[in-house]
Amino acid sequence: MTEKGSYDEYMAIAELYDYVVPYRERADVGFFVQAARESGGPVLEVGCGTGRVLIPTARAGIEITGLDLSPHMLAVCRERLQAETKEVQTRVRLVEGDMRQFELAQTFQLVTLPFRPFQHLTTVEEQMACLGCIHRHLAKGGKLILDIFNPKLETLVEKDFGKEIAEEPEFSLPDGRRVIRRHSVVSRDVANQINNVELVHYVTFPDGRKERLVQAFPMRYLFKFEAEHLLARAGFTVEQLYADYDKSPYGSKYPGELIFVAGKSMD
Ligand SMILES: C[S@@+](CC[C@H](N)C(=O)[O-])C[C@H]1O[C@@H](n2cnc3c(N)ncnc32)[C@H](O)[C@@H]1O
Repeated sequence: MTEKGSYDEYMAIAELYDYVVPYRERADVGFFVQAARESGGPVLEVGCGTGRVLIPTARAGIEITGLDLSPHMLAVCRERLQAETKEVQTRVRLVEGDMRQFELAQTFQLVTLPFRPFQHLTTVEEQMACLGCIHRHLAKGGKLILDIFNPKLETLVEKDFGKEIAEEPEFSLPDGRRVIRRHSVVSRDVANQINNVELVHYVTFPDGRKERLVQAFPMRYLFKFEAEHLLARAGFTVEQLYADYDKSPYGSKYPGELIFVAGKSMD
């Protein structure tokens, strides 16, 4: 994990992010937009990235603040916003900041962390700091949606460290670059529940030149009961737990996601 202004884990790939096929096809946008609509806004998206969820939310008429540590991801988001109407643009506020320590001088009806930004936090201290900040920014009666993956036990015992797995279709960028992305777990810190992950991008330029871009980061996995205890410690009550963005209940599929909808249990 990095401090604001230092090394940015998303720097090398921010301009590729919106073209990655599994990101482009991720079936969570409708879920988060509906939750934003139901909340009435304003919404805070923690780890908003390039605006994959934030921009459709603003298009749906909801005021939304996006907080992100990566100036490169935020730059892509700002550029995308340029193509939106003035009405959409005025509903959005972008803040470069750290989810472990932020003060926005505003409260929100809904706080979301779509697509696992929380799992970039590798210690309980960081997780509690983040949840504490969110708690302070949540309006009375407001909701938190914490979106993390459900660790698959079979995967956690695999030992093919460093093996690059290519399961995704190639994608192209508007300037003609073609990209094949592979992923690998380079090591696993079982004691601290951390997978050290690399997303490796093999880029071919239209003139045949080649480049290898690596996004390397630690990813903390959390189990259901652990996340529930964390939320309780931070002053939240879990109201729903979904296994998928179609609202399938936890346990209905394996491994599925862990999508917690929580309210404040105390102020
Ligand atoms: C997988 S992306 C998700 C982006 C977006 N929510 C989406 O659904 O596409 C995770 C995001 O979390 C951001 N992030 C990681 N650590 C952070 C921190 N400590 N504070 C704020 N943002 C952080 C990254 O910069 C990145 O944009």
